[in-house]
Amino acid sequence: MEYCVTDIHTLKEKRLMQVEIMYRVILLIYTDDGLYAVQDNCPHLGTSLSTGKIENDTIRCKDHGLPISLKTGEVVSVRQADFLRLDKAHRKIQTYPVVVKEDYVYITL
Ligand code: FES
Repeated sequence: MEYCVTDIHTLKEKRLMQVEIMYRVILLIYTDDGLYAVQDNCPHLGTSLSTGKIENDTIRCKDHGLPISLKTGEVVSVRQADFLRLDKAHRKIQTYPVVVKEDYVYITL
């Protein structure tokens, strides 16, 4: 199901927005490369990714620097994941389809 979460102008201005849909906390991100919507919990210790650093299509958790692909939700550094002793089953976060229609942003769950 598709949910309207904001307008594109507000998102462009803020760049990052935390939205809650059906009890899921989702991070909506605007970059020059595109829009992304991902689960707002680091797979390491659950920290919100809203304070993370965005580098192209990757977000880096501020707590211990785990880099996560905004496109796939996968941890992109095996070395860092191994260093943090992150279980292989927890090296991915949920991503959600996001589209803009007539200036409004929609996320599909
Ligand atoms: S809580 Fe995100 S890397 Fe540790």
